[in-house]
Amino acid sequence: MAATIKNISIFLFFLGLISQGYCAECSLKDLSVNTSKTGVTIQGKPEWLVTVTNNCQCGQSQVILNCRGYKTAELVDPNTLTYYDTDYCLINYGKPISKQPITFKYAWDTTFLMSPNSSQITC
Ligand SMILES: *[C@@H]1O[C@H](CO)[C@@H](O)[C@H](O)[C@H]1NC(C)=O
Ligand SMILES: *[C@@H]1O[C@H](CO)[C@@H](O)[C@H](O)[C@H]1NC(C)=O
Repeated sequence: MAATIKNISIFLFFLGLISQGYCAECSLKDLSVNTSKTGVTIQGKPEWLVTVTNNCQCGQSQVILNCRGYKTAELVDPNTLTYYDTDYCLINYGKPISKQPITFKYAWDTTFLMSPNSSQITC
């Protein structure tokens, strides 16, 4: 029994090495966040379009952005962006972002600096 568990962990260890190898060239830096003004005003506040692009051939899941102070006057679908009071935003509800960029819009007087904080590379 103990031997089996040991074998499984060795197997998982090598599996981890292999998948890491494939994704060696992918990192958090492959995620770019772009904010632009839509020109629409919501409750007196300008609306901003945010595009999260993954420039890596592997998907990235559990993408979390730093989004300190984030506020919005416009309802944002939690499946796209979930804000934690702890200054983090989970993008796409943790589901992988592949070639197709994720976009969402929020409305506030100013933009918020959103930069990738962490992600998991999934091949
Ligand atoms: C960001 O968005 C603007 C407006 O859509 C575009 O002109 C610009 O090229 C984009 N920048 C990047 C780095 O994608
Ligand atoms: C992610 O957030 C933690 C806690 O605020 C911070 O220490 C770390 O520098 C952040 N990492 C990046 C890449 O922004």
